[in-house]
Amino acid sequence: MASGHGKKCVLITGATGSLGGELVARYYPEYQIFAQGRNADKLLRLKMRYPHVEIVLGDLRAPGIRDAVRQSQVVIHTAAQKYVNLAERHCFYTVDTNVNCTFELADLAARQGVERFVFISTDKSSFPTNVYGITKYLAERIILELAEIYPATKFVICRFGNIFGSNGSVVQLWLEAKRRRQPIQVTDPNMTRFMFSLDDAAETVHFALTQGHSGDIIIPKMKSVCLRDLMELFGDTPIEVIGRRPGEKVHETLYIKGEIDTGYETDKYYVLNARAPTRLSLRDLNSAECDRVPISRLRHWLKEIERKAA
Ligand SMILES: NC(=O)c1ccc[n+]([C@@H]2O[C@H](COP(=O)([O-])OP(=O)(O)OC[C@H]3O[C@@H](n4cnc5c(N)ncnc54)[C@H](OP(=O)(O)O)[C@@H]3O)[C@@H](O)[C@H]2O)c1
Repeated sequence: MASGHGKKCVLITGATGSLGGELVARYYPEYQIFAQGRNADKLLRLKMRYPHVEIVLGDLRAPGIRDAVRQSQVVIHTAAQKYVNLAERHCFYTVDTNVNCTFELADLAARQGVERFVFISTDKSSFPTNVYGITKYLAERIILELAEIYPATKFVICRFGNIFGSNGSVVQLWLEAKRRRQPIQVTDPNMTRFMFSLDDAAETVHFALTQGHSGDIIIPKMKSVCLRDLMELFGDTPIEVIGRRPGEKVHETLYIKGEIDTGYETDKYYVLNARAPTRLSLRDLNSAECDRVPISRLRHWLKEIERKAA
């Protein structure tokens, strides 16, 4: 069923977040959007920018969710408790949000005849060492299982590394420290992380929406950043090395060899799918061993973040 405007309907969970907000902006002209979030103030601001958005206020079990799913052809599930350190101390809440709520939403979507369900995952789900990563690993497995159970709904997973400058990211924390004239806290200067821009993340979701098959795990071909290089962008700001926090890896992996070894690749993505007929001979994708994002690109991204914040 399309909306009264003749447009397809999409429910974007976590619409008040970094990625969700970007997706609202991208799909506003094309879709009737249901925007879920818990923060009324942020939702009302979103509504001021995009007046035709339908607000779905509340958590992922709020009554409005059921109604929005019933009317939607597409669900893009970005909402999550994504903070690694909070997940370590709030294990039950993180499991409930990232695993149980994802299952309930995806199952509901399939039962209501949603055509496509896109789930956002993270490299931390690959060989996970922390609560957050484990919850995303389990959620990925649940999505793949639902893809088998409900063939009428296309379940697609996007698994990516860090979005440069997203809420709560190291860049945001360092910018805040700089504003407060405090030292920037670095866990380990040798740490590497896969990173790309918010625009690249939204582009990956678009690929999942337009090209993804059910059971796909879409992994962008990402470059990585060493924290030492990121520190260069902050010039003379004093630095405090605080050491790795519980559950944090020095390097991340987007894929571990043998995880799923069928699928295909494009110039921008690896697409894993256990049911694909072709072999995909992939090595481990490790953030220590891949190409680095050039410093000039990092500077450009940082300028963009500062421009948007001004
Ligand atoms: N940012 C990254 O670097 C990165 C990297 C890989 C994967 N991801 C994944 O991408 C997705 C989006 O990330 P993001 O950076 O956009 O996150 P974000 O800015 O922290 O936004 C998270 C969104 O989820 C909502 N949310 C959190 N807990 C919820 C709950 N219990 N019930 C309902 N809604 C809840 C938040 O709502 P409120 O505004 O009301 O709190 C917010 O809208 C997440 O699934 C994350 O795991 C992110």
